[in-house]
Amino acid sequence: LDNGLNLTPQMGFNNWNSTWCGAQFNEDMIKGIADLFVSKGLKAAGYQYVNLDDCWALPLRDAEGNLVADPVRFPSGIKALADYVHGKGLKFGIYSSAGIHTCDVKGFPGGLGHEQQDANLWASWGVDYLKYDNCNNMGIDAQKRYKTMGDALKKTGRPILYSICEWGSTGPWNWAAPVGNSWRTTGDISDTWQSMISIAQANQGLANYAKPGAFNDPDMLEVGNGGMTATEYRTHFSLWAEMAAPLMIGTDLRMAEPETFEILTNADVIAVDQDPLGKQGSVVSSANGLVVMSKPLADGSRAVTLTNEGSYDATITTTAQTVGIGGANSYTVKDLWSKKSTTGDGTISATVPGHGTAMFRVTPGSPVSPPTGMTYLSDLPFKSVTNYWGPVERD
Ligand code: DGJ
Repeated sequence: LDNGLNLTPQMGFNNWNSTWCGAQFNEDMIKGIADLFVSKGLKAAGYQYVNLDDCWALPLRDAEGNLVADPVRFPSGIKALADYVHGKGLKFGIYSSAGIHTCDVKGFPGGLGHEQQDANLWASWGVDYLKYDNCNNMGIDAQKRYKTMGDALKKTGRPILYSICEWGSTGPWNWAAPVGNSWRTTGDISDTWQSMISIAQANQGLANYAKPGAFNDPDMLEVGNGGMTATEYRTHFSLWAEMAAPLMIGTDLRMAEPETFEILTNADVIAVDQDPLGKQGSVVSSANGLVVMSKPLADGSRAVTLTNEGSYDATITTTAQTVGIGGANSYTVKDLWSKKSTTGDGTISATVPGHGTAMFRVTPGSPVSPPTGMTYLSDLPFKSVTNYWGPVERD
C-alpha cells in the first residue's frame, strides 16, 4: 500500500503466539515488553511496533457504538497504554476482524459495518498499526471488506500500518498490494518444526509479489516459545529474513532465555530482512530436502540460505553463479551466524545439521586488505585508540 509505511517489513511484538486470550495478556505484559524493547537492545535492532491481538476489548460496544477496552486486562485504557509505548519511542498496534465478531468464542465485536467509527477511535488513541483478521465475515467479498477498512484508516489522516490477515484464503498476493502493507499467506503458525517449515514452503513461491510497502506475511515468530530447538528457531528466523517477512516477535520476552535474544537481535540476519531493495528471496534448488534460497540485496550482494529439512547432517553446496551473481573474479562470503568471512571463487558450502540453516551474505569482490603490519581502525577491539593525530574514539 502506497501510504509511505512499511518500505521494509514491519518489526515488532504481538502477544498472540505466547498468550492467546489467557489472563497474562494485559497491560503489565505490554508495558513490560516495551520496557524490554529498550533495555535489551531490540529497539536499537529495529523492532518498533508493540501490538495487541484478539481479546483486548469487551464483548459489547458502548451506548455510542464505540469499542471498549477490557477493564480487567487494561485498567488504564488503551490510550494510556499507547501513550506509554510512544513514551519509549516505539509504536503501538491494535487488532480487529473484518467480520461481525473477532475469532474468539466470546464474540468480541468486529469491524464490519463499523469501519470508520472504529478507525476514528483507534486514531484518537494514537494507534499506529492495525492487524485485521477474517473471522465471522458473513461471506462478504474479502477485497470489499479489506478495502473498506483501508479507506477508513486513510480517512483518519493518521499513518496506520495496515496488516491484512485473511490467511491466504482468497490469494491476497493477487489483490492486496494496493490495499494493505502486508497480507498473511497461510493459516496460523504453531510452535512446531512441521508447522513452521510447511508455512515457509507455502510462502516461498510468492517471492514475486513482495515489494516495499507490500509484503507477504507467513505469520508471526515462534522463536523462544519452547516447541522447537535452537537450531530450528535459527532456521525459522533465517528463512523469515530471507523471505522479507514481517519480524513480529511472538514470545513473552519477560521470560526469554539469552539465546532467544541472541537469535532475535542478530544484526546481520535482520539487515537481510530489512534490506532497502525489499525483495523476497526465492528458491534456487531444493533436491532431497536441501533447500537453497537467494535474496537480492541493494549493494549487489545476495543473501543465501542453505536449509537442511532432513533429520541428519548434510553438506549443501551452491555457487555464486547459481544464486545469480556469477562472473566476478572473487567473492566474500560471510556466515551470518558464526560471523566468519572467507574470500574465494564463490563456492558456498556448509555441513548443515538436520533442521538447520546456514546463512551467508555473498558479495562480489574481495575486501581491501590493509598494508602488512597495519590494522584498520574499525577492526580494532578497543574503544579508544591513539593514532598519529592523537586519541580517537570509536563506538
Ligand atoms: C486468527 C489469526 O490468524 C491469528 O493470528 C490470531 O489473530 C487469532 N485469529 C486471534 O483470534
